[in-house]
Amino acid sequence: MNPKRKIYLETYGCQMNVADSEVVLSILDNAGYARTERLAEADVALVNTCAIRENAEQRVYGRLGEFKYLKKSNPGLVVGVLGCMAERLRKDLLQSESSVDLVIGPDEYRRLPELVEHALEGEKGIAVRLSRVENYDDIIPLRTDGISAWVSVMRGCDKFCTFCVVPFTRGRERSRTVKNVVREIAGLVERGLKEVTLLGQNVNSYRDQETGSDFADLLAAVARIDSSLRVRFTTSHPQDMSDKLIATIARHDNICNYIHLPVQSGSDRILRLMNRTYSCNHYVGLVRKIRAAIPHVSLSTDIIAGFPTETTEDHKMTLDLVRQIQYDGAFTFKYSPRQNTKAWQMGDDVPDEDKIERLNEVIDLQREISLDRNRALTGQPVEILVEGPSKKSAEDFTGRTETNKTVVFPKNDATVGEYRLVSIDRVNSATLFGMLLPASTQRKAANG
Ligand code: SAH
Ligand code: SF4
Ligand code: F3S
Repeated sequence: MNPKRKIYLETYGCQMNVADSEVVLSILDNAGYARTERLAEADVALVNTCAIRENAEQRVYGRLGEFKYLKKSNPGLVVGVLGCMAERLRKDLLQSESSVDLVIGPDEYRRLPELVEHALEGEKGIAVRLSRVENYDDIIPLRTDGISAWVSVMRGCDKFCTFCVVPFTRGRERSRTVKNVVREIAGLVERGLKEVTLLGQNVNSYRDQETGSDFADLLAAVARIDSSLRVRFTTSHPQDMSDKLIATIARHDNICNYIHLPVQSGSDRILRLMNRTYSCNHYVGLVRKIRAAIPHVSLSTDIIAGFPTETTEDHKMTLDLVRQIQYDGAFTFKYSPRQNTKAWQMGDDVPDEDKIERLNEVIDLQREISLDRNRALTGQPVEILVEGPSKKSAEDFTGRTETNKTVVFPKNDATVGEYRLVSIDRVNSATLFGMLLPASTQRKAANG
């Protein structure tokens, strides 16, 4: 193949898709394709898609409309849909979107070179089989070197929360081996990695089939690679977060004191309908246990507003729980019915204006709480990992605390990838602002 054909790839959805895109690029790179950042010069345009909510899919449809327009001036352009939308819609996508040449689900990426080659010759293709074993464990993702990386440690989800498409789009749970995850991360550390986030839809179900190691074992093994590597992970399901995992986080200084622990609702009735398999009581107890073991831990959550049959009382219970837990942050979503899920059959009876109102109430409440929690850090030194220039101003840099709070400060002598102390002088609900302390005063801050 000479000159090399060029691939353009856009990624939507969660970090797992970001990680998958790096696997996709690696597979295509090995097959002799080049990558381009410019759609105008691409031979193949791929979108790695998300199906979690209706609006995620609408964005992709909008983008496909633009690709269709582009095809008028460049009829040879191959358009491919990858990821969760490809898996959910399968051949319907080929039928409904005339611009689409390829539909490839998350477990079929090894077939990309063959399918892309055929598509370049004018043949449409579809590959959407889900696998019980595929985990791309042997593929080294194609990443741009940097101080942070996302590493998938497992794929799929067996939880079947009734609102969620992921078990349908990603298939059954399966884990990579500790050995390969550690080898991959150790390689990245040699090239300057300072922070890694281990990814899985439900990391507590992680299990190395060869050795029997669980997620706590994996986390500890990754933490031991290098004591200056920050280790993060997401997502933990509140049902099976073990004492061993909590103790592992508490024991290792470089495992970040930050846990994303989605509760979804504060009403036991709604949690049951969601098949979340825990009660609010269990959740509150778990949070108590976590805070006792890890005193400066920061917690975040996901909340869905307007799940089928949710009443004002259910919603108030969610507000109460949010008030009680005092999260550092929350990701809030308006319930979006997804075909084939169990909740789909429950209807969508909460009117849109009520969903929006409830959503805004949760957002406003959490904003106040985040502000309060951030205010408590005013006047204190926090340790950050320096990440680089701030988006808003060229003179400022940003970094994050161990607890995942963004800190903005005048650059001065800071360099990307170093740990520094910043004294916080002002905060809002999303960001801390402050001044770098001299490099010589460096020490681990109690609240960092
Ligand atoms: N595996 C993770 C979540 C993955 S999806 C976990 O269990 O926490 C991220 C979030 O999207 C979910 O936590 C949920 O809050 C939200 N979500 C999923 N399906 C949704 C739907 N149909 N409508 C609205 N929000 C949804
Ligand atoms: Fe979806 Fe539930 Fe699995 Fe998370 S745990 S991916 S919300 S089914
Ligand atoms: Fe979306 Fe699939 Fe991730 S549905 S949230 S891209 S697992």
